[in-house]
Amino acid sequence: MELIILLLLAYLIGSIPSALWVGKLFYKTDIRQHGSGNLGGTNTFRVLGKTAGLTVTILDILKGTAAALLPLLPIFDSVSVHPLIPGLLAVVGHMYPVFAHFKGGKAVATSGGVLLAYEWPVFIIVLATFFIALKVTKMVSLSSMIVSVVGFVYSIYFYLRTGDIYLMVMIGLFGAFIFYRHRENIGRIKAGTEPKVKWL
Ligand code: G3P
Repeated sequence: MELIILLLLAYLIGSIPSALWVGKLFYKTDIRQHGSGNLGGTNTFRVLGKTAGLTVTILDILKGTAAALLPLLPIFDSVSVHPLIPGLLAVVGHMYPVFAHFKGGKAVATSGGVLLAYEWPVFIIVLATFFIALKVTKMVSLSSMIVSVVGFVYSIYFYLRTGDIYLMVMIGLFGAFIFYRHRENIGRIKAGTEPKVKWL
């Protein structure tokens, strides 16, 4: 029973549509009607500016971190679950949120938050790679896909060093989600119409 509650909680945490709620509460704007329409940090940056974008990105990261840390709570002492499992459910919640008609974000920030909780060095590597890729490509979507590949390469190294296959499987899954959720962006990148950031 505790296991089901833990997993449900992880999904509900992931389901919190930060972009929608921050936009509606503080800017009276439904960001689904603007920009790419995506409920994520990038579109919030685009539509509502730096403060809102950064706030949403941090909240989305923290959703993944919080979910992956749930098994550490004393009330879940009797539950034996790998932290990446609730992390995965948070990412699913972020993409398909029960609080926003199951239309959510593109899995990037929340996946990052799970990595932060489980293996922070991979989070740092992924973050650094993201900014390098962004500096070069000026496209958040392309940079997000590049980091999912770099993260997977790191997880192979991690597996060879520690024998922990969970991280590799999970980063592989996150990467698959990220590519799947960026289908429209991939089309725009190919067509040369993907928006570029101006502030870098
Ligand atoms: O994290 C989402 C980002 O990679 C793309 O967002 O709004 O440009 O489709 P957007």
